[in-house]
Amino acid sequence: MSQEAYTPGVLSVGIEPHLFVVFGGTGDLARQMLLPALFQLLRRREFHDSVELLAVATRPMSDAEYRKMAVEALAEAGVPDCEEWAERHLRYQSIKDGFEALRERIEEIEAAEGLDGNRAFYLAIPPAVFDDTVDGLGKSGAFSGGGWTRVVVEKPFGFDLDSAHHLNALLHDWLDESQIFRIDHYLAKETVQNLLALRFANPLFESSWSRDRIDSVQITVAEDFGIGSRAGYFDKAGIVRDIIQNHALQVLTLVAMEPPVKATSDAIRDEKVKVLRAMYPVDPTAAVRGQYGEGEVGGEKAAAYLEEEGVGDGSTTETYAAFKFEIDNWRWKGVPFYVRTGKRLKRRVTQVSVVFKEPPVFLFSIDGPCSMHPNVFDIRLQPEEGFALSFEMKVPGEGYDLRTQRLRFDYDEEFGELPGAYFTLLADVMIGDQTLFVRSDEVEEAWRIVAPVLDPGTTPDLYEAGSWGPARAEELLGRSGRQWQTPDF
Ligand code: BG6
Repeated sequence: MSQEAYTPGVLSVGIEPHLFVVFGGTGDLARQMLLPALFQLLRRREFHDSVELLAVATRPMSDAEYRKMAVEALAEAGVPDCEEWAERHLRYQSIKDGFEALRERIEEIEAAEGLDGNRAFYLAIPPAVFDDTVDGLGKSGAFSGGGWTRVVVEKPFGFDLDSAHHLNALLHDWLDESQIFRIDHYLAKETVQNLLALRFANPLFESSWSRDRIDSVQITVAEDFGIGSRAGYFDKAGIVRDIIQNHALQVLTLVAMEPPVKATSDAIRDEKVKVLRAMYPVDPTAAVRGQYGEGEVGGEKAAAYLEEEGVGDGSTTETYAAFKFEIDNWRWKGVPFYVRTGKRLKRRVTQVSVVFKEPPVFLFSIDGPCSMHPNVFDIRLQPEEGFALSFEMKVPGEGYDLRTQRLRFDYDEEFGELPGAYFTLLADVMIGDQTLFVRSDEVEEAWRIVAPVLDPGTTPDLYEAGSWGPARAEELLGRSGRQWQTPDF
């Protein structure tokens, strides 16, 4: 299971027949992401007829009513013609009838379908009902079907270090770590996974990947949209909890980790967690928090965060954060990792920029006009996935006038459309591969690192919607003579 060699292209691996139970079966996540991904996955030959689905939610509903709702949601998500599949494989159970009734229903389905008690539970539920759900499943015996049991937990995993620790303890009361699949959908993005291939299959990069050659690393997770209808969640969470603690730190660990001893899920996760352990909690003096004011994004007027529906009066929740992280180990000592993320920024882009050191002696400054830029390796995680290496070259002609050129690779030119994150994650749960899921120690270390900036009680800097964030974020790098790389591909 978790110790088997990680096999890229998971769909070549077989799966054992099982029941897949989706809690939160009527919610947005289930309707917009999980059901479409499940349907597409189960259409594949390797999965076909091996998986029965049981959706669980509060609302009393018959199987037929749920199927109708699911088929409509699937059609809306651009996945038509699912009636036959839903009729054959999809069922519904209201949790209002209790956990014992749920276990009985599970056993009934298993008996009818000839399943051996292998069960996956996908908990797409609000934090407020998490404890009762895990306890209810545990006490009813639903986790003990006689086959394997896997539990998938959606983000956010806790609200801070204490609550994450509590959730881990709660899950560990009933399950061991090899049964728990904590989602961070960023890990399932092809380009994020490719960070491992890029580094560990290409000695050319790896030999330069340290404080000897690298000046700094920048990670940008920028979005041009605002919070939409998510004020209820976001205004309590803020962007540090929403993106830095999970997506951004996960990307950082993949950029900074040592080569794993083997390509197994635990060997990879061991190295990731070592990076987090070597990191200090964020220094609040090397942190910038911001909140968007009104402005213009993509030619359209955008309202200020405080004007968004559902946001509390005078809310001090941050919609932007920029931090300098330091990794106190042999490879990275002294190399700053700058991370910034924000809503309502100039454009949507997630990118890692590795900025190399300048040459120790600059030969070309003596003759004629020239400029010099450091080599930068940009890894574009989304959109326009790919990477680009910028280097200096001589402009033909007299003297040594230098110009920056880019060597570029685009995923879509080579591979076409990439698989969606939920498709990959669901396939991995069914196969039992935990590589792309976050382990308990990782999640707690990440909370420890962001703890000082979670609720500082200060007013965030205002930035104009459609800009690159508050001016102080420039100063964060400017202090050491650096600047943010424009995410320009
Ligand atoms: C989610 C956050 O986890 O990730 C959202 O809650 C964010 O606020 C989203 O917009 C970004 O995911 P993606 O895959 O669209 O970059």
